[in-house]
Amino acid sequence: MVVSLRRRSLSRLVFLACCAVFARLVLYPAFVPATTRSSNDYQIEEQNFIERATRADKSLNVQKYRFLQSRLGRDERDDMMSDVVRNGINDYWERFQMPYMVSRESSSMDAQHVLNSIDQLLSLNGWVAALCPTLTRPFGQNRREDNYDDLVKDGQLYYIAIVIHSADHFLVDQLAVIVQLAKRLGPNNIFVSMLDYESTDSTETLTDLCEGVLILLGVPFRIRRVPAMTEDPAAAYYPLEEAHMRNLALEPLRELQSKRDIDFHRVIWLKGFTCPTDILETIRVSYANEAAMVCGMDWAEHNGFFIFSDRWRTRDIEGDQFRQSKSSSKSDAVPPRDANGAARYAQHLPFQAFCCEAGTHVVDPAQSYYKGIQYRAGTGYQNLSRAESLPVRDADAPCLDSSQAYFCRDLWVRTARDAVAAMDLEHDVAGEGKMRAKRAVAYEPQEGIIEVAASDPLMLVAREEPAKPAKADDDVDRRQAGGVAPDPDANAGSDYDAMPEEDTDEIAPLPVDDDDRMSIPNSVFTPARILVNPRCPTTYAGVSHTQLARDLFGDGDEEETRVGKYVLDDWEGAPESFICQEQRTTGGRKAPKTQRRMGFSIHEELQRLVV
Ligand SMILES: *[C@@H]1O[C@H](CO)[C@@H](O)[C@H](O)[C@H]1NC(C)=O
Repeated sequence: MVVSLRRRSLSRLVFLACCAVFARLVLYPAFVPATTRSSNDYQIEEQNFIERATRADKSLNVQKYRFLQSRLGRDERDDMMSDVVRNGINDYWERFQMPYMVSRESSSMDAQHVLNSIDQLLSLNGWVAALCPTLTRPFGQNRREDNYDDLVKDGQLYYIAIVIHSADHFLVDQLAVIVQLAKRLGPNNIFVSMLDYESTDSTETLTDLCEGVLILLGVPFRIRRVPAMTEDPAAAYYPLEEAHMRNLALEPLRELQSKRDIDFHRVIWLKGFTCPTDILETIRVSYANEAAMVCGMDWAEHNGFFIFSDRWRTRDIEGDQFRQSKSSSKSDAVPPRDANGAARYAQHLPFQAFCCEAGTHVVDPAQSYYKGIQYRAGTGYQNLSRAESLPVRDADAPCLDSSQAYFCRDLWVRTARDAVAAMDLEHDVAGEGKMRAKRAVAYEPQEGIIEVAASDPLMLVAREEPAKPAKADDDVDRRQAGGVAPDPDANAGSDYDAMPEEDTDEIAPLPVDDDDRMSIPNSVFTPARILVNPRCPTTYAGVSHTQLARDLFGDGDEEETRVGKYVLDDWEGAPESFICQEQRTTGGRKAPKTQRRMGFSIHEELQRLVV
C-alpha cells in the first residue's frame, strides 16, 4: 500500500515536472532565465496615465501583464546534475519540438497538448487532498453539489499566501489545494504568494514545480525565496521572524493595491493541509459574518490520538487558552473553554474567539491590511547572543507573544477605534459637536505611541507564572510517526511552539477590583469579528484523515438546514484579560516561554494612540 502510494506519488511528480518543463518550452518559447531578466520584470507596474484615466483593466490577466507571474531569489547556483538536465532539455527541444513547430498546422497540435496538460492538472488532487471528498462533514457538505458560485459572482478576488519554512512535506498538497481553488474560483480571480524562508529541504525544487504548474494554469503568482533574518538560528527571535515572513508574503497585496488599484476581498493563509471545500466554506462563513478573520482548527496526531494543536496563538473569547483536547472529546472538554464557544463547537458551528490562527485562516484585508495593520512583534526581548542582561520589564509591560497575538489585539483596537471615529463623525454631522467632547474616548487621526506610566492605576497588574521546560520530544515523535525525517526546525504544525498542556490550567482570571477600575470596559466597544470554524480542520502528515473526520463529525448525517448555521447573532466584546504566553529571549522557535495573565483594555490602548 505504502509502496504503491509512493510509486504513484513519484510518477505524479515526474508527470508534473514534465508539464512544468513543457509549459516553459511551449507556452513561453522565449522564456528567459530569471538571471537574465532585468529586475524590473518583477515589479508590479504602476498604471500609466491612460490606464488610470480609462479605468482600465483591473483583472489579473497574466497574458497581458507579465509581471503578474514572478519569481524572486531563485537559487541559481549550479548543482551536480545541472549539466545533465540542461542537455536533456536542449536535446528534447531540438529533436522533438523544434522540427515540428515550423508551421501553423503543428502549432494547433501543440495547443492541444497544452490544453490536455491543463485538464490533467486541474484534476490534480495531491496525496491527502484526494481523500477530501470521502471525508465526513456534519452538514453533508461533501454529498451536496455545490460549486461555490457565490464566492465569485461579484468578481471577488482572492489572495492566497503561504510561508514555507522547511516544510516541503505539505507543499505538493498545498499546490493541489491551490489548483482546486483555481478551478472553483477561476485562475484569474486568485493571486498566489509563496514565501520560502531559507528552507533547507527540497522546497526549492518543489517551488520550481509550483511555478511550472501556475504558469500553465495562468494563475498570477509571486514565488520568493529570502534569507533568514539572522544567520545563527540561536540568535533569532521567532515572533519577529514570523512577522517579517508574513509581511513579505503580503507585499504583492499592497503593491497591487497601490500601483494597480486592485483590491482583494479575502486573504487565505494556507498552513499545513486543509481540504479545498472546507476553505471555500470558511470563506463563505467569513462573508456571512463580515468577519475580520475566520480560522480553521488545527489537529495533530499525538500518541495515536488527534489533539487540538494551536495553543500558542489561539485564545477563546474569555482570553483563555484552548484545551489540548482530543478530537473525540466530550462536550465538557472541547477546545474552547468558554460556555458559548463550547456549545457552538459541539454543534459544529462557527464560534467567536479573542484570537486564533490554527492552520488555514481567512482574513478580510479591508478590515486589516488595507487599514495599515502589519504583523509585528514585541521589542523588549533579551538577545542571548549579546550577553546582555535581561531587560527590566514592568509587570504590565507588553506581552512578548506571537505576531498573530499582536495582530489580533491590533484588530480589536483598530475596530474599536474606527467605530468610535465613525460615531464621532455622525455626531459632528448632526451638529452635536459637544457630544464629542463628552465622549470618554477621543479620536485623533495621527498615531503616536507613548509609554503609559507604570504607576497607572488603570493597568491591571500581571502575574507571573514559572516556566516549565517544553517537551521537545513530543514534536519529534509526532513527526516521526508521520514518516517524515525530523528536521530540527521543520514546520510541524502550529503547536510546534506551544507550551505543554499541564502548565496552563492553574492560571486563574485576574481578580477585578471594581472600585479601582475607571477604565471603560471592553464590552462597550465594537468587537473585532474573529471566528473559529470547527468544520475546517487543518492537519499534518501522518494523520488518519478518515478517523479524524469521524471523531469530529460522527457519521455526518445531521440535518442540513440549521438555523443560523453560519451567522453569529451576538458578538461579545474583548476579554478584560488574557493568557499571555511569551518568549522573552532569542533562541529560535523553541525558545522557552513564560506565562502570565495580563490585562487588556481597549480604552487604554486607544488613549495611548491619542496622546
Ligand atoms: C542578536 O545579536 C546578534 C549578535 O549581535 C545578532 O546577529 C542578531 O541579529 C541579534 N538577534 C536579534 C533577533 O536581534
